[in-house]
Amino acid sequence: MPSAGTSASSPAASGSSAGPSPAGGRSSASGVAQVTAELIATRRVGAYQHLTFVAPGVAEPARPGQFVALAVGGPTSAYLLRRCFSIHKASPSGTYGGTVDIVVAAHGPGTSWIAGLPLHAEVGVVGPLGRPFPLPREPVPCVLVGGGYGSAPLFWLAQQLKARGCHIEMVLGAASEDRLFGVVEARRAADGVRVTTDDGSAGSKGWVSDVLPDVIRSSKAAVVYGCGPMGMLRSVTEIAVREGAVAQVAVEESMACGVGVCMTCVLPVVGTDGQTRMVRSCLDGPVFRGDRVRWDAFVDGYCSVPPGAVGAPGEGGH
Ligand SMILES: Cc1cc2nc3c(=O)[nH]c(=O)nc-3n(C[C@H](O)[C@H](O)[C@H](O)COP(=O)(O)OP(=O)(O)OC[C@H]3O[C@@H](n4cnc5c(N)ncnc54)[C@H](O)[C@@H]3O)c2cc1C
Ligand code: FES
Repeated sequence: MPSAGTSASSPAASGSSAGPSPAGGRSSASGVAQVTAELIATRRVGAYQHLTFVAPGVAEPARPGQFVALAVGGPTSAYLLRRCFSIHKASPSGTYGGTVDIVVAAHGPGTSWIAGLPLHAEVGVVGPLGRPFPLPREPVPCVLVGGGYGSAPLFWLAQQLKARGCHIEMVLGAASEDRLFGVVEARRAADGVRVTTDDGSAGSKGWVSDVLPDVIRSSKAAVVYGCGPMGMLRSVTEIAVREGAVAQVAVEESMACGVGVCMTCVLPVVGTDGQTRMVRSCLDGPVFRGDRVRWDAFVDGYCSVPPGAVGAPGEGGH
């Protein structure tokens, strides 16, 4: 099995193996910038809004899998918390300087405000945050699985994997056709693309997990990268492990600060010492090796501290 869980390209990437001391100084904060970014393009893509910001200092160090945190509501806003978005693409240089693209599904007050921003609006952006997808050292076959807007960071990842000589298959899934993101781009970026929708409005009817085993087997994939809802990431991990591949998944836990201060984003991850610890997905993730995440701790979208985790209350404890 190739050493798919580590990368020479980024010091942060090696941390995705969820080592024994998740909080022990493996800061991903180097190269993080806080800038006022100008919106230079905004367009509707199906159910989503695709936005491009000039964000010099954020674009240059960014890697696929990292995210940005945007201040919402404008300069006099009472919206306290920033909102986090995967970086869809980062272009370090260009006419405008470094640009960062995000893809937003408007559903609550913050995402609706961002999706409705007019051209040339200025927004506070912090990034790049978190750890990127680790890249395999060898040119191995890879499958990239995206659910809904979760596919947004995968095209950029595909380019980097291609540049390393990897064969790329993509599997994109969503509830319906308008909630798929990037099918055309996927056909350019990957050697093969499978599309699924829950309602059958595009591609084959069903879930990404229905077609994934076949795609892994036929491509002899060594690594499966995933980004999307937690339930999908759990299935992707289970299938990858069953088929003998390594899963690297970008989780989307609720994040109140995005920079390691508030502890709202913790999830249980097994370290190399076999111990489960609650780690911050904004700092130690969002990318984790799928088989290290304690998926059993998630019930109905809520995560609890599983028994046996370091610091968990014991029987009769508090
Ligand atoms: C790493 C990461 C990448 C993401 N990428 C994308 C993307 O590419 N595209 C996209 O559309 N969305 C993405 N999201 C989700 C996006 O951040 C949320 O949909 C957004 O914050 C919701 O804001 P809202 O005001 O519209 O909705 P609301 O649901 O009203 O959220 C309000 C605020 O409360 C916070 N919050 C809610 N519940 C909790 C909780 N239990 N604990 C702590 N804080 C909480 C939210 O994070 C948010 O800051 C990503 C999230 C993360 C963590
Ligand atoms: S979001 Fe605040 S610590 Fe991770």
